[in-house]
Amino acid sequence: MKKELAFSIVKLNPICISKYPIIFQPDLYLEEGMRLKMKAIEIRNKYLNFFKKNGHAIIPSAPLIPENDPSVLFNTAGMQPLVPYLLGEKHPSGTRLTDYQKCVRTNDIDEVGDNRHLTYFEMLGNWSLGDYFKEESIQMSYNFLTKELGIPAEKLSVTCFAGDEDCPKDEVSAECWKKAGIPEERIYFYGKGDNWWIAGEEGPCGPDTEMFYDTGKPACSNDCQPSCDCGKYVEIWNNVFMEYFKDKNGYTKLEQKNVDTGLGLERMTMLLQGKETPFDTELFQPIMKKLEESQKVDNIESRRIVAEHLRSSMMIISDGGKPSNIDRGYVLRRLIRRMIRHLNKLQINLDELSTLIEINVENLKEMYPELEKNKNLIKTVIIEEKDKFVKTLEHGEKEFSKAMNKAKTEGKTKISGEVVFKLYDTYGFPPEVTSELARENGFEVNIKEYEELFKKHQEKSRQGSEAKFKGGLAEQNEQTISYHTATHLLNAALKQILGPDTHQKGSNITTERMRFDFNCDHKLTEEEKQKIEEIVNKWIEEGLEVTVETMKKEEAIKSGAECMFIEKYPDEVTVYSIGKISKELCGGPHVKNTSELGKFKIKKEEASSSGVRRIKAVLVKG
Ligand code: SER
Repeated sequence: MKKELAFSIVKLNPICISKYPIIFQPDLYLEEGMRLKMKAIEIRNKYLNFFKKNGHAIIPSAPLIPENDPSVLFNTAGMQPLVPYLLGEKHPSGTRLTDYQKCVRTNDIDEVGDNRHLTYFEMLGNWSLGDYFKEESIQMSYNFLTKELGIPAEKLSVTCFAGDEDCPKDEVSAECWKKAGIPEERIYFYGKGDNWWIAGEEGPCGPDTEMFYDTGKPACSNDCQPSCDCGKYVEIWNNVFMEYFKDKNGYTKLEQKNVDTGLGLERMTMLLQGKETPFDTELFQPIMKKLEESQKVDNIESRRIVAEHLRSSMMIISDGGKPSNIDRGYVLRRLIRRMIRHLNKLQINLDELSTLIEINVENLKEMYPELEKNKNLIKTVIIEEKDKFVKTLEHGEKEFSKAMNKAKTEGKTKISGEVVFKLYDTYGFPPEVTSELARENGFEVNIKEYEELFKKHQEKSRQGSEAKFKGGLAEQNEQTISYHTATHLLNAALKQILGPDTHQKGSNITTERMRFDFNCDHKLTEEEKQKIEEIVNKWIEEGLEVTVETMKKEEAIKSGAECMFIEKYPDEVTVYSIGKISKELCGGPHVKNTSELGKFKIKKEEASSSGVRRIKAVLVKG
């Protein structure tokens, strides 16, 4: 469930990353006296206090970097750390919860610089874990918006699920809205594309109801409505009613019905302050002003990119992130490097970075005290990364010019994915930096080709780090992966011949051979070696399927899975099974079917240390 969630939140709440351009001109559209000047922190506090008054326990924001979940890069929604509780586990704080959650979403990183996209944002949320449902949830949302924030009810429109062949129209939510005070003509119904929320392909899901703020901009047509992207309506809140469970066979009703809501703080702040972009609010103003003062070249887009990426990087570092070439570390690296490139574009001296960090800490420390606590760490990480990038920047730009000239002479308008990848791999150029450079010079880049190369590279690094963890697996390719699966077979075969107390004591794999150490008090006889070979080869011939599942460590051990160093594994582990003959805690990778392995042959059997024997074996592919 968690894994799916990481990569396929089907309907992400477009709270800060909306398809709607926000064009908001308060002086034109808001009557005097209606403009509210609430600061972000006041909105946050109002929210938490309001839900506290309504029986919710305030729980702390989980760190940006999910705990015990290497499959997820960052928390992207308030509900993400709560998934186990939405699935029925008891939450220690009860059945009504509220929090603010720090979130990072980077799928739209290239868009940052316009008037609305952010990579870091804060999501305010409230949850019912089998407690209240539609009526109370909708009434509370309505009261919060109209009474606590003072938004006039006539500025609000709402959308509900229209119903389809799977699930009926959400008449209940619509009725609740009417009862709360939204007239029928401002209640709209849409299908699954707009008003349905599921984390992944399967799992708990349900209709959602979304609230929209009418900016007062004139309607773009007679049919202008919340789903329209003209900018008149801005989505402000999403309440998900998890009442179904979806699996391969379709939808069934859930026993525990939950409510999961999400409200984007930056967007709400901007709207209540009558500002056109989040960068015009107090969250970004001090840094934006400083950038304007220091710049030698005026560029609003670059200023926004610097301000946004700096805040995002600082939040990530403060929660334990470090720049690197894979996964989270790479996201952070991209953010820092893109920010530096735009500081260069603004011709701001990079020595000013330290001051810029200070300004952000001062401005944001009330909301995020951790920034002040980690100020020195933040500075060190960002400045070290800057130094590294500056060194490579010059080389990279030269290399890019060469590639561009080559493309020019060949009459091409596209820079190949290979060049983008080389710039990334050798010079540390994030691909969007290359894309930007290309655009500035009237070129395009073959990003698809780059992505394919990057994916291959990522898969290799992932396997590499898992292999390091497993110990002994230095490089990954078809042959070493085959040997890895063969060690599991050998481990199982040894148990059959030498007894169930035989366990792995170590292993080492190269492309040429596998080496496997195990506890045994005697030198193996020829007959034993022959039998071991026979069993392993029988399993190979049988074409046993290799499957993988994720489970809690204790559960895995209880189920009889073999494990070498129990304490080395995280709480959530992957378990590889081969047919019915082997089950081991393991990071992988493995072949899909034992038939891929070739013939197993023991080359050597010898003592490794006291009570430990060592087998060296090969797989001969026919
Ligand atoms: N999980 C929903 C979303 O992300 C509501 O919080 O939009």
